[in-house]
Amino acid sequence: MSQPKTDAPILQADNLVKTFPISGASLFKKDVFTAVDNISFDIRQGEMMGLLGESGCGKSTTAGMIMGLISPTSGEIRYQGRVISGLKDKAYRPYRRDIQMVFQNPFDCLDPEITVGRLLAEPLTVWGIGETKDERSRLIAEMLEACGLPADCVGKKPPEFSGGQLQRIAIARALLVRPKFLVADEIVSALDVPVQNQILELLMTMKDKMGLTVLFITHDLAVIRRIADRVMVMRGGKLLSIGETRAVLDTPEDDYIRELTQSAFIFRKT
Ligand SMILES: Nc1ncnc2c1ncn2[C@@H]1O[C@H](COP(=O)(O)OP(=O)(O)OP(=O)(O)O)[C@@H](O)[C@H]1O
Ligand SMILES: [Mg+2]
Repeated sequence: MSQPKTDAPILQADNLVKTFPISGASLFKKDVFTAVDNISFDIRQGEMMGLLGESGCGKSTTAGMIMGLISPTSGEIRYQGRVISGLKDKAYRPYRRDIQMVFQNPFDCLDPEITVGRLLAEPLTVWGIGETKDERSRLIAEMLEACGLPADCVGKKPPEFSGGQLQRIAIARALLVRPKFLVADEIVSALDVPVQNQILELLMTMKDKMGLTVLFITHDLAVIRRIADRVMVMRGGKLLSIGETRAVLDTPEDDYIRELTQSAFIFRKT
């Protein structure tokens, strides 16, 4: 199932812009804030692309546009050559299974009142994966094992798990529908370092096993250095640099990136 890395882009963004109205602006004078400021990039089939930048630089807004949750003000995103940006819900649906997302806080997407078994069965039912209940249970058991979770967790509810275990459950849920593209938005930022490392290992293993392409969003330089094949660095909505991780971070051409790599405070060094 694993697909080799290629230079062919699976996802391309061209001149992507997202502005938000500034609250309080008058009816006659429409002031806007530019959260994503004319960025273009490509993500290659099978790669781990990092998206690095400080809080508020536009990372999640970019992710939201890829996920069909936010319409760009201008510009477009193509997935496997087809325009997916700005599509309404129904038109985006053919891509919704292929393109999955995991968030910083798994509590946001895992209903605390519902058992893990039901939470994991839901996407299978929605997408018609597995002919019978038994087959769906088998798929869930296999994915739980692959994600390092005990089989008996299907009977438990989210509040009974630690943050790291919950993130494993969220990853299992996203991967159960066998996506091709995964957006991971700060998925280890709320976890202790040893648990972060376990989740990163899991992500890298599953990426290789399933031939996934991953957009890994973080403000953490050390994490990017560790896992990203290529990286793009954003600041104030703009894309400062994109390229091989070592080239971008070890010989930075941009002053801000040079500062980041020298800063031990916000962006830790490896
Ligand atoms: N719906 C919205 N309305 C108005 N402004 C918004 C909206 N969504 C995001 N913004 C603003 O756009 C900017 C970029 O936000 P975004 O969430 O993309 O940043 P981020 O890089 O993901 O930050 P963080 O690391 O804190 O998650 C921020 O200044 C944010 O306040
Ligand atoms: Mg964000």
